[in-house]
Amino acid sequence: MSRNYRLLVKNAKQVVLICNNGEKFMTKHEILNLCVIENGSIVIGSDGLITAVGPAETIRDQFAGATFDKVIDATGMCVLPGLVDAHTHPVWAGDRVHEFAMKLAGASYMEVHRAGGGIHFTVEHTRAAGPPELLSSLSSRLLRMQRAGTTLVECKSGYGLDLHTELKMLQVIEEARNTLPINISSTYCGAHAVPKGKTVEEATEDILQVQLPRLKEQMSAGTLRVDNIDVFCEEGVFDLSSTRRILQAGKDLGLNINFHGDELHPMNSAQLGAELGASAISHLEEVTDQGIAAMATARTAAVLLPTTAYILRLPQPRARDMLEAGVIVALGSDFNPNAYCCSMPIVMHLACVNMRMSMPEALAAATINAAYALGCSHTHGSLEVNKHGDLLVLNTTRWEHLIYQLGGHQELIRYVIIKGNIV
Ligand code: NIG
Ligand code: FE
Repeated sequence: MSRNYRLLVKNAKQVVLICNNGEKFMTKHEILNLCVIENGSIVIGSDGLITAVGPAETIRDQFAGATFDKVIDATGMCVLPGLVDAHTHPVWAGDRVHEFAMKLAGASYMEVHRAGGGIHFTVEHTRAAGPPELLSSLSSRLLRMQRAGTTLVECKSGYGLDLHTELKMLQVIEEARNTLPINISSTYCGAHAVPKGKTVEEATEDILQVQLPRLKEQMSAGTLRVDNIDVFCEEGVFDLSSTRRILQAGKDLGLNINFHGDELHPMNSAQLGAELGASAISHLEEVTDQGIAAMATARTAAVLLPTTAYILRLPQPRARDMLEAGVIVALGSDFNPNAYCCSMPIVMHLACVNMRMSMPEALAAATINAAYALGCSHTHGSLEVNKHGDLLVLNTTRWEHLIYQLGGHQELIRYVIIKGNIV
């Protein structure tokens, strides 16, 4: 072949494909056969997509005579798909370091929230911030995530709770999507909390009658892209029936349903999500057995967030029960002012130690299954031909080091590559 390609990564000790049969997700049984090539190479074409991946000798013979814009000799290194973070709240102003101290002293998440702190505190600061300030902090947070290996990230709005600020946040996310290399899936989360001074009913009507119609206009005009809809379904926040109405309205606009459920109280969120055909439900610390069964049947992914349970000292999400029941388990950092974590390798480490996931289960959860939760697993989440050339090159001979090592991953991750470009 004498064509030109964007990138060749050759002779890697291990290339972790994740899967290679076009699977869109992996349940426990399939993860037992995580696909790993010993001594492999990968080629990314000029369109940024994977052209070929396989044993090093096969690729060498197949591409003899071809030219590459860039060649990485990965001898003694490992290649993995870029990580996918299925749940973040990265657009906000102010921080809540003072609340961390309160929580360490024993205050619960809802005590802080009811006292006017928590999400309310962040809403006040985010409403007051201009788009340039929000874009600048968002960009540096996304860069930190990228350096820790994330190449596709979900980004929520939800610190506006009014039309103006929710649209401002979504526009800032759109701007980041248009200017930064990291891939973004954006989520409208206008139902993240009930704004101060409003009832749940009033907040729900505002979302249904004011916010969603404006969103629809902007999406139809092509000025805004939004992929998912989210609601915080929780006691004292949005109840099950408001959650249902908002999610259904979002679905009617063509958005994927991907929402917060069963976090602090069992709400039957899992059953609701399964019934509405949700792509994913996050948190689930308080999910019931019936909820787990419903999610397994409906192929609704569980996005588990080990940082939240860790920081708030909540019961751990029931990862093992979900995996045994055949639920598609994904992971997210939940980056937000309460859980200030940009690192999916740390999230995978916590998932293994605290939630008893195996390392292959954690890696599948942070790649193909997280991509599935965002409706992107046909293009992202594994190293398969025609998917995006998003990958990591690790300075180690065994991929498990990405999870085994706790922190300091910038030394371990030699290259982060998005669409065949080193970023
Ligand atoms: O996923 N639970 C609701 N939302 C976020 C927290 C947001 C915040 O406290 O600012 C979460 O953990
Ligand atoms: Fe969240």
